[in-house]
Amino acid sequence: MLSTITTPIFQIIQTPQWLPRVLRRFDNQTALLKDGTAVRLRQICSCDAKLICEIYTNMSANSRFLRFNTHLTDALCTEFAQQTAVQCEESGFGLLAYVLDDSREDGIRPLGFAYYVQHGDQLPEFAMSIVDNCQRLGLGKILLKQLLKRAKKASVTFLEAYVLPQNTGMRMLIQRVGRPFFYGEEGSYETYRIVV
Ligand SMILES: CC(C)(COP(=O)(O)OP(=O)(O)OC[C@H]1O[C@@H](n2cnc3c(N)ncnc32)[C@H](O)[C@@H]1OP(=O)(O)O)[C@@H](O)C(=O)NCCC(=O)NCCS
Repeated sequence: MLSTITTPIFQIIQTPQWLPRVLRRFDNQTALLKDGTAVRLRQICSCDAKLICEIYTNMSANSRFLRFNTHLTDALCTEFAQQTAVQCEESGFGLLAYVLDDSREDGIRPLGFAYYVQHGDQLPEFAMSIVDNCQRLGLGKILLKQLLKRAKKASVTFLEAYVLPQNTGMRMLIQRVGRPFFYGEEGSYETYRIVV
């Protein structure tokens, strides 16, 4: 069984009031990464497929493999991103982490996301994807903690994750946040449950 360690090391601060109204509507938090980057978090909606796809394309082949247990082509990235964005809105909840970037038309550069989705009467499953150059900066921890808070509000009692045994990053993250326990094995995956 995994140990249950909770270490709240990131300060969550309120979104500044000067943000445009359209952004404030979705945006509720800003968090600092270990390198000082101020990351914003907002809820994912079905129109976010392009941003999710960009996250996948900015993950290395290894990171994508750890996430999907397959070598993801660009076409699959697009397809999975579309499915995920719709699932977040219709049967779960997702959080997008991004920074503002004036050089882009949409003004947003996505860094990662976390979501959970409920399939029928099964336990809600969660997964996370963070672009390679933002990994190990604390973003996974921030996203997972916020996802758990949201799940609690929605009266979810457990979240479940399917993790490849070689995915040290995800296993460490799950140990550091929440109250996890190893549930079992399913195919190539280990199943972890977190008490919300
Ligand atoms: C797994 C993943 C979500 C972790 O997010 P992250 O932002 O890199 O994790 P954090 O920086 O918040 O780290 C959380 C803890 O895990 C540890 N950790 C993270 N990656 C690690 C690694 N590769 N090896 C050892 N420890 C690691 C960190 O040191 C930290 O521990 P600490 O609290 O003692 O400092 C991210 O690396 C990722 O997107 N990986 C590729 C896709 C994937 O595997 N998704 C999960 C499948 S469901």
